[in-house]
Amino acid sequence: MRILLVGKGGQVGFELQRALAPLGEIVAVDYPDCDLADPVSIRRVVEGARAGVVVNAAAYTAVDRAESEPERARAINAVAPGVLVRPRAASGPASSTTRPTTSSTARRSRPTRKATAPLP
Ligand SMILES: NC(=O)c1ccc[n+]([C@@H]2O[C@H](COP(=O)([O-])OP(=O)(O)OC[C@H]3O[C@@H](n4cnc5c(N)ncnc54)[C@H](OP(=O)(O)O)[C@@H]3O)[C@@H](O)[C@H]2O)c1
Repeated sequence: MRILLVGKGGQVGFELQRALAPLGEIVAVDYPDCDLADPVSIRRVVEGARAGVVVNAAAYTAVDRAESEPERARAINAVAPGVLVRPRAASGPASSTTRPTTSSTARRSRPTRKATAPLP
């Protein structure tokens, strides 16, 4: 199985390169070879990798700059994960993405109060 790992140079990506290695052939990329702010770049990399699984370890992590670069932060953290999997058709790759931990995401990810009940 071929696994496309985006963000190989980051903390998570570096560790994932080692952790995923036993599972298949890793095609590891990073900026600027794959620019998550640029959908054309993403599609080129995904199509070129011909991977069965896409793992996204890349993210806009410069939290202090995010308010002055909202469009770039949004493109990388909110839009790019969708573009990474959009080329998938019936035979396209499965995917996994890390969860950005910016403050706005943290606010959204609070547990809901939806009631749950045990399964019968
Ligand atoms: N580290 C943790 O303990 C941890 C725990 C839980 C969740 N996470 C989440 O995992 C994700 C990655 O965290 P990290 O700690 O590994 O961050 P990191 O060390 O800052 O790595 C981010 C990676 O994303 C790449 N990147 C940035 N902009 C890019 C772009 N436009 N196109 C392609 N790649 C780009 C960076 O490349 P350059 O270096 O070339 O910019 C770098 O390789 C984040 O969403 C974070 O919230 C991390």
